[in-house]
Amino acid sequence: MSALIGQDIKYCIELLNTSELVAIPTETVYGLAGNGLDKKAVARIFETKNRPFFDPLILHTDSLSKIQGFVKDIPEAAKILAEKFWPGPLTLVLEKKDCIPDIVTSGLPTVGVRIPAHGTTLELLSELEYPLAAPSANPFKYISPTTAQHVYDQLGGKLSYILDGGACKIGVESTILGFENGRPTVYRLGGLEIEKIEELIGKVHLLTENEHNPSAPGMLKLHYAPTKKLVIDSLSNLDKYVEMRVGLITFTEFIHSVKACKVLSIRKDLKEAANSLFAAMRDLDKEDLDMIIAERFPDEGLGRAINDRLYRASIK
Ligand code: TXA
Ligand code: MG
Repeated sequence: MSALIGQDIKYCIELLNTSELVAIPTETVYGLAGNGLDKKAVARIFETKNRPFFDPLILHTDSLSKIQGFVKDIPEAAKILAEKFWPGPLTLVLEKKDCIPDIVTSGLPTVGVRIPAHGTTLELLSELEYPLAAPSANPFKYISPTTAQHVYDQLGGKLSYILDGGACKIGVESTILGFENGRPTVYRLGGLEIEKIEELIGKVHLLTENEHNPSAPGMLKLHYAPTKKLVIDSLSNLDKYVEMRVGLITFTEFIHSVKACKVLSIRKDLKEAANSLFAAMRDLDKEDLDMIIAERFPDEGLGRAINDRLYRASIK
């Protein structure tokens, strides 16, 4: 099989209606989508990505009224966030109804849902009665794809169609927020800044690594990693690596002394930096280098999501 890349929404619907998978564009990253109510399609998603069944999927749809069909109750704070930030890079974890198969949620009583902000995908979703289960369209543990070509490079042999929606505008995955005993809790830092969430619903709890129960579904630390070793270090320490062929990821500064340097935003814009992060990791991963070094980004706004992804990429 070799995937076609195109913009044929009708063809996508035909494929999805027969348990096939389609890669879809979103504003965060490309997703590997299948009918979220169809166990066969969902099982295919896990197989295609080589993803363990204990790592639950997110459901995508185009309206709050459809979401009400999948979840039991939407807490007031979730409604406020949904109204303000959907369509957008926010996933809400809510109590699921029985119509959502357990394979989607890895047996959890909750399900992640979001309305993505991408015209083409919203058009597709509006034509479907069912939600699309869609993890990022990369092999398990590799960097998430932000262009149709990225998807093709890695999964092109394993699916029939990639819906091309251009380069993703945000470029890191959605922020995931749930409610643990009623307390708003962030499970994953992502494309929606925590500061913006807190402006509306007050302080949220950030689930730290220490609190993660490694055996709990959805709490995997390892993710987003290039094949090459990635180390986080400060630019003042570069002397340590003179003997090596280094690829460097920096925020604003171009460094000439290394073999390759990716500057994520000369104008110090964290949004622009987040948007270039995964493509920079992918490009450096293809070059003839011994290792990748990344500097730490400012710990605010999207800088927190960038640092989170770099940290995860650095654990091997
Ligand atoms: O931006 C995104 O969220 C992209 C696009 C395609 O929408 N999707 C994405 O999906 O990043 P994925 O599968 O790569 O990451 C989803 C993560 C899971 O790894 C899991 O940690 C968390 O969402 N998750 C899903 N359901 C959950 C639940 N019920 N409770 C806690 N975490 C959950
Ligand atoms: Mg992923």
